[in-house]
Amino acid sequence: MADYSIALIPGDTVGPELIRQAVKIFHALSACSEHFFHLEILTACGPGIEAFGCPLPSASLKKALRCQAVLLGNIGSRRYQSLPPSKRPEQALLQLRGAFRVCANLRPLKIYPGLACLSPLKESYLTNGMDLVVVRDLQGGMFSPAHPTTIKNEGKSAGDLEYYSEYMVRFTAKIAFHLARHRNKRVASLDKSNVLASSLLWRKTITEYARSFPDISLTHQYIDNASMEVIRNPGAFDVIVTSNVFGDILSDELTQLTGAPCLFGSAELAADKRGLYTPNQLHHSCEEIAGKNIVHPLGILDAIRLLLMYSCSRPDLSALLSHVAASVIKDRLTTPELPIPGFADISTDEMGDEIANRLLRSSQNEHP
Ligand code: IPM
Ligand code: MN
Repeated sequence: MADYSIALIPGDTVGPELIRQAVKIFHALSACSEHFFHLEILTACGPGIEAFGCPLPSASLKKALRCQAVLLGNIGSRRYQSLPPSKRPEQALLQLRGAFRVCANLRPLKIYPGLACLSPLKESYLTNGMDLVVVRDLQGGMFSPAHPTTIKNEGKSAGDLEYYSEYMVRFTAKIAFHLARHRNKRVASLDKSNVLASSLLWRKTITEYARSFPDISLTHQYIDNASMEVIRNPGAFDVIVTSNVFGDILSDELTQLTGAPCLFGSAELAADKRGLYTPNQLHHSCEEIAGKNIVHPLGILDAIRLLLMYSCSRPDLSALLSHVAASVIKDRLTTPELPIPGFADISTDEMGDEIANRLLRSSQNEHP
């Protein structure tokens, strides 16, 4: 059976503590499955800037490219905020996106049973619950390295091009429609086709692509209107597919509706199955909680769950991690980062040990 090489980039602030828990999870996975997970810890993002003056040193990029997947802990330190965008830790992620040719970003979000009290929404808005995935394009739009920023008039004007091709839209559509098939068979495509030419192309391409999926119900909505609808009735959405910038903003809005951003992961997928995996929120200001052993590790666990699903094609191991995450919540355990009424607080390290032990125990019961 295949072994896997996984690059681990701790990054800054709470990243190293999260990656420490990730190492325990991979060790448990190596012990309880027929795979061996080789772990390669790389210097990049904040530590790359400190040690080598650049967010993604070439040696780290080279090593990352030899791996099936990259797991990134965090980019959050305020220390680098005054640097120009091209020198900030975020550049490491953008360069990795280019080097791995990732095309789409998946962010699953849900309100766990018993955790609706954390949501900023009134209970009456949550009668249909919330369990959805945002599928965001990562190849096109204003963030695409293929269509760089222009700066003119000696810095007095600047522009970023919102650009899409049918090819780019089709790749993202493929991920969204296949995902919907394994879920509730509903796709909502969000655009601004009342104004933007790139959105008209988006809508036309999605509509054509959907013809091969008669079992999936597709709706089109304008992004601005959908931003209101998701708050009024998040339970109405299953798979949301949208462009790079719209998806960047909307996925953060939806994450906040769970009231527990630290519980979720994010996957950035390439056509060859390789991927970049991170906690859902890379840049929440977590300076205050860093180094205190209080950050919640379920977000990094969820990122590993996605990694097992998409880069290792092991839905069974992925399901094992979902099971462990749900069991920790059911047993009312949390860390001080996410105070929950009636839950016991344990430290990050204790939670990591708990997760690894539960993983080993449930694998013995289920023989994955
Ligand atoms: C995300 C992040 C990144 C993005 C940043 C760190 C470049 O916000 O993954 O959503 O905007 O794509
Ligand atoms: Mn973002």
